[in-house]
Amino acid sequence: MCGIVGYIGNKNSSSILIKGLEALEYRGYDSAGIALIDNDKIKVYKEKGRVKEIRNNNDIDIDSHIGIAHTRWATHGMPSKENAHPHLDNSGLFGVVHNGIIENYGELKEFLQNKGYEFKSETDTEVIPNLIHYYYNIKKDVKEAFNMAVSELKGSYAILLISPLIKGIYVAKLSSPLVIGKGCKENFIASDIPAILEYTKEFYFLEDREIALVGDDKITFYNSKLEEINKDIKVIEWDKTAADKNGYDDYMLKEIYDEPRAVKETLAGRIRKDEKINFPNLNITKEQLNTINKIYIVACGTAMHAGLVGKKALEELTNILTIVEVASEFRYNKHIIDHNTLCIFVSQSGETADTIAALKLARDKGAITIAITNVIGSSITREALYTILTHAGPEIAVASTKAYVSQVVALISLAIYFKEIIDDKKELDNLKEQLLELPNLIDKLLDDTTKYQQIAKEIYQEKDIFYIGRGNDYNIALEGSLKLKEISYIHSEAYPAGELKHGPIALIEENTTVFGIITNEDIAEKTFSNLQEVISRGAKVILVSNLEVTNKKMNIINIPQVDNLLAPVVAIIPLQIIAYYIAKEKGIDVDKPRNLAKSVTVE
Ligand code: M6R
Repeated sequence: MCGIVGYIGNKNSSSILIKGLEALEYRGYDSAGIALIDNDKIKVYKEKGRVKEIRNNNDIDIDSHIGIAHTRWATHGMPSKENAHPHLDNSGLFGVVHNGIIENYGELKEFLQNKGYEFKSETDTEVIPNLIHYYYNIKKDVKEAFNMAVSELKGSYAILLISPLIKGIYVAKLSSPLVIGKGCKENFIASDIPAILEYTKEFYFLEDREIALVGDDKITFYNSKLEEINKDIKVIEWDKTAADKNGYDDYMLKEIYDEPRAVKETLAGRIRKDEKINFPNLNITKEQLNTINKIYIVACGTAMHAGLVGKKALEELTNILTIVEVASEFRYNKHIIDHNTLCIFVSQSGETADTIAALKLARDKGAITIAITNVIGSSITREALYTILTHAGPEIAVASTKAYVSQVVALISLAIYFKEIIDDKKELDNLKEQLLELPNLIDKLLDDTTKYQQIAKEIYQEKDIFYIGRGNDYNIALEGSLKLKEISYIHSEAYPAGELKHGPIALIEENTTVFGIITNEDIAEKTFSNLQEVISRGAKVILVSNLEVTNKKMNIINIPQVDNLLAPVVAIIPLQIIAYYIAKEKGIDVDKPRNLAKSVTVE
């Protein structure tokens, strides 16, 4: 998805902006551009393709101290230089970058065309600078013109405006992320914290429909009526190296190796052996929990797969019916939701458009809402009643790895927390001990990955790969399969093992690769039988299991024995690494797989 960076201060803005764009490359984009104020004029440099095309432009190194920059992921209009941001109005006085989608751009464009404005691009964005110009001609005041223009926009936006008429950058947002980083005699703006983490740890978060004027020494915030408002600074404790590759070839590999730390920090301060679990900012009482008759877990992609593991834990430990639904479905389905419903929204970025829309819907119907997210201050934290932060640190690679394991342990901890509230006593010491042991177990799995690399070499040319399991093993299969398809482009499906006979087994032929996952002794025999059935039809089986298995017909990956609720955290590690090495064998850019974006901020 698109990325935004803005800078004002005493340094050369172009180098800071380009560095910021490079830090946002992981989000996926197809063109890039920057606009700088130079001698009372706006200069624009943009190209189709990579940020390095902008960096290589020698003209850009001018002495400018105000600028805005953008990486574009095409929505309206194909990837091209003309459609790349920034966009200027017809007079060249107003330069804008924009993330999001302007749903009413068609009517605004027609209105402006009737007033004589001409358009050079196919984008929805180009209406914004022209609308600002239109109102500026009437009001002769940039702040008023900016506010009048943005208040007419429907859809979602994060907008930065520069103009030689102002000493600052105007910013506005609606349902699209934007942060303002505070510096000393300089300030930064970005769609994502990692873009400016190198310069500051102090951030302001705009609420929807607020605007701000970011100067070099002062930031002024306004509500939609243009009354000045105060905002608190939030300190983000991520350090800069957390957003670097740190010697690893790719962010994804670095993030896999960061999983022990991510799990440890997500548990820290919440779980202690021999004590009740503590979620200091949750204020849910026994009386409230007793009235809750169902729980929804709503999320997308990997976060939804973590939700499936959470469902198992919540149902097993609290006995409350728990339903998991993908956010894009949830928001359009009819649900019986009221104040007796608890809705948990899981999102690494905290900015996924569908998840946020689903949250608002559930909240408006009276549900108790909890957000589980990795990003402090993200939109989801501002919409939910309660927030649980996973402390995975910045996740840059498109394929989610460390966020998944931290979401899983956060959800399981939450289930134990609820059980202790319901039963009014400390319990499940053994499960807590095992949770605390998980970082060591992951460490051991990461110690020697030779076998996983070997498997990747053997199967990277496959066209179809299947993953099967039952119960939590099916949840693991789903996540393993998603990881493989998104970064290796190999077609892959996950099935509940018992479903094979109801159709999918027709796809099994000589040498088809099937991953079997078996971590639950109680139903192990059933899955073994299903694996035998695919072997009899010629499949090559790779088994991930924590049971003692000797079977010459299967390639066996041993993982440590843990309670079945926790099995996804260890079983996913080999599957993530195998997917990673398959993608490497195929020469794919694992951090930026085609067509995908790290955070999906449009519907
Ligand atoms: O930021 P979120 O957790 O809300 O993102 C949800 C999905 O878009 C995300 O998990 C996606 O499926 C990943 N690419 C999976 O690796």
